[in-house]
Amino acid sequence: MEKRDQWDSRFAFILAAIGSAIGLGNIWRFPYICYANGGGAFLVAWLVALFTAGIPLMILELGLGHKTEGSASEAFRKVNRKFEWFGWVAILVGFFIVCYYAVIMSYCFSFVYHSLTLAWGDDPTGFFYQQTLGLTESPLDIGGVKGYIFLGLLLSWIAIFFSIWKGAKTVGKVVYATVLIPWFLLLIFVVRGVTLPGAVEGLTFYLTPDFQKLLSHQVWLAAYTQVFFSLSVGFGIMIAYSSFLPRKTDIVNNAFLISMANCATSFVAGFAVFGALGYYAVKVGKPVAEVVASGPGLAFVTYPHIISNLPFWQPLFGVLFFLMLLTLGIDSAFSLAEAAAAGVMDKWKRSHRTTNIAVCSIALIIGIIFTTGAGLHWLDILDNFMNKFGLSIVCLGECILIGWVFGSGKIKEYVNGISEFKIGVWWDILIRFFVPVVLGVLILAELLERIKGSYMGYPRLAEFLGGWMMVLLLPIFGIILMLVKRRD
Ligand code: PHE
Repeated sequence: MEKRDQWDSRFAFILAAIGSAIGLGNIWRFPYICYANGGGAFLVAWLVALFTAGIPLMILELGLGHKTEGSASEAFRKVNRKFEWFGWVAILVGFFIVCYYAVIMSYCFSFVYHSLTLAWGDDPTGFFYQQTLGLTESPLDIGGVKGYIFLGLLLSWIAIFFSIWKGAKTVGKVVYATVLIPWFLLLIFVVRGVTLPGAVEGLTFYLTPDFQKLLSHQVWLAAYTQVFFSLSVGFGIMIAYSSFLPRKTDIVNNAFLISMANCATSFVAGFAVFGALGYYAVKVGKPVAEVVASGPGLAFVTYPHIISNLPFWQPLFGVLFFLMLLTLGIDSAFSLAEAAAAGVMDKWKRSHRTTNIAVCSIALIIGIIFTTGAGLHWLDILDNFMNKFGLSIVCLGECILIGWVFGSGKIKEYVNGISEFKIGVWWDILIRFFVPVVLGVLILAELLERIKGSYMGYPRLAEFLGGWMMVLLLPIFGIILMLVKRRD
């Protein structure tokens, strides 16, 4: 049997975990959510969410992975044989996500190329939706596979495959590049963003607090979901990554470090994004609110507009911007693939190579649906359901299984035994009561929304196929994977 992987150093582990947490979410999702939910006031809700739920769950996952020395499925099996399926559910949520996350990376590849000639001309909207994606009217109108999006997808998977080649050993080396390069590039964009004329308009918009908004539950829900998504907890990644740590390490310290680094990056990224948006708004003579678009629109429509309007070196900034997105995305993507591969290796004791080929090729094949004309519709539906239901149900389940069934005290004792900074009873209270209540409310509120109307008005059939059915498949596949015979 192969010896269990181990990180080369604690620093390699920290970088890998930070690399997983920092992703596209920090650049386009966070600044926009922040603005839409009260700017400076949202930052308050977001910090509360970080300390009351994000960090406690991070400690839970790192503690669990380290104690059981197993990937998510293995860790839950060691907690109780009956729970193995639940670990697989966490892995599967991540696995479905990486199927489309790699497609967004494929968009980045093509935009690195298009930046060279500023190919979008003066119609970035048409260029992205019509020319690049060939987007159809409805998810049910599939259209054809877009050749170069598929090519980009293939490239992404080749890159992911080699990044996890020998598990933690390879990941620990690759992350030096995939964390440090985007940080460096982000710095360039922050400086570029805040020194553009009109930047102040954008920054005022980003940061001016509207404290009234803190009274609305929507803002709190947005803050909690953003924190979970951003920290990459609830996908089995942190459990697997922590299982590769040497026996002597400091869990609490690691958890704080990873979480704070991730959140600081989000906050700083806001300056790059909103500085540039302010400049662009002033230049076209519109209010900032009218030039902000959320989702892929911000990265692939608004940003190309901004790039074309920069005073100098437009192609260079374009290439660097999309390279930044690529390097931000890839370590999140391979952490998801590695979490799945670790689960398979723990159970069936296959070699790294066989496992990685299997995981990467299955995900590549599933990803083909997102390279079609209807791809972005399906991506949008699956993204919404995996995050709002898959991810939050996994986090809720972790709190209940560990907090109540296994006993949060056992993890606490274990973590305190090896950490310098000790966690107290506050942690048990958060894991056993507070986080489950917050998540319960969040899931119920979302469920009611979906009963009232389909997500974004998509046809109910498409919502079922891309959303509900996928969520229902999670426990079904989880149980099947649990029942397949393991190899010892
Ligand atoms: N945390 C990443 C981000 O902010 C997204 C991600 C989610 C990465 C899940 C891995 C797993 O973009």
